[in-house]
Amino acid sequence: MSSNRLLYLSQADVVKVGLKMAQIIESMEIMFRAKGEGRTEMPPKPGIHPGGENFAHAMPAYIPDLKSAGIKWVSGFPDNPSKGLPYISGLLIFNDVQNGLPLAVMDCVWITAKRTGAASAISARHLARPESAVMGMLGCGVQGRSHVEAIKELFPLKKVMAYDPSEGAQKQFAREIRNNFDLEVLPVQSPREAVSGCDIVVTAGPMMKKPHATIQAGWLDEGAFASLVDYDSYWQPAAMHEVDKFCTDDRTQFQNTRQGGYFPDIPEIHADLGELATGKKPGRETPEERTMTANLGLALNDMAVAPLLYQKAKEKGTGTWLNL
Ligand SMILES: NC(=O)c1ccc[n+]([C@@H]2O[C@H](COP(=O)([O-])OP(=O)(O)OC[C@H]3O[C@@H](n4cnc5c(N)ncnc54)[C@H](O)[C@@H]3O)[C@@H](O)[C@H]2O)c1
Repeated sequence: MSSNRLLYLSQADVVKVGLKMAQIIESMEIMFRAKGEGRTEMPPKPGIHPGGENFAHAMPAYIPDLKSAGIKWVSGFPDNPSKGLPYISGLLIFNDVQNGLPLAVMDCVWITAKRTGAASAISARHLARPESAVMGMLGCGVQGRSHVEAIKELFPLKKVMAYDPSEGAQKQFAREIRNNFDLEVLPVQSPREAVSGCDIVVTAGPMMKKPHATIQAGWLDEGAFASLVDYDSYWQPAAMHEVDKFCTDDRTQFQNTRQGGYFPDIPEIHADLGELATGKKPGRETPEERTMTANLGLALNDMAVAPLLYQKAKEKGTGTWLNL
């Protein structure tokens, strides 16, 4: 295409492209290895906070191995759902690495959902028992769905214990997961039933600066892995200190987030995803270990997905060309 045009992909276009979770995971694994070997660029994300717990973050990244450069501008407004608006919204600009020109502007909601599930699954590949078959899902929303999809891609998943205080959300989730993934889904009445007895536990409820800290020491089984998608909102410090390995996706971003007041009391960080992907730090070493990751969501994740969407959209003729 000529260099004075860019491809606009709406939310519906991004979905229509039909990118598979397996392709997203594969591209993100290439990115995490490159990151671990120091071949990526990702400055700490600046943000603005227009009232209450609202945020908008600028997330730029460059991945030479994937010929990917660009930025995601993403908002999270927690009160939006009560107004019939989405919690997360935003756009991603994908640039040409040769000349810096914008190649595409795309809606980032689908990307944010899928790449977050994929990052947890990649963490789980290093930290969970390979035979993990029972997943506990706390929070049956967008992330709940993408996490089941991504974990199912890498593990012989059979059963999902689903907890959500909204009965409607829980029922809808159970119906969709049964239909889409041929899995047994048990809607449970208490958070503990989605933690104890599970091989993989994912918490994806609301993110709170003052955690509700429902999950207590003694709930997470020996040999289990947990992914904290909603930061430390769900976990009591004593429950986090029970784990043998506490990991994250990027050490620098994790330290920045802590300076913002999150994760005041956590175990020492064992490794980030770059270190796990390159083998610089070991993942799970015994079947008995309890392991945990708190992935905060990286611009690198988004920029590992954007070139796949751009390429496939061009091949399929999806989207609208706009003049620069
Ligand atoms: N770490 C990352 O990279 C990353 C990326 C995107 C989103 N997130 C976080 O993931 C979380 C979920 O996002 P989403 O897009 O799925 O939101 P969503 O609104 O689609 O779903 C949230 C669900 O949580 C349920 N819920 C409310 N209180 C709960 C509780 N105490 N226990 C369990 N469930 C509860 C709601 O009923 C809803 O069904 C948010 O905290 C969001 O900030 C993290």
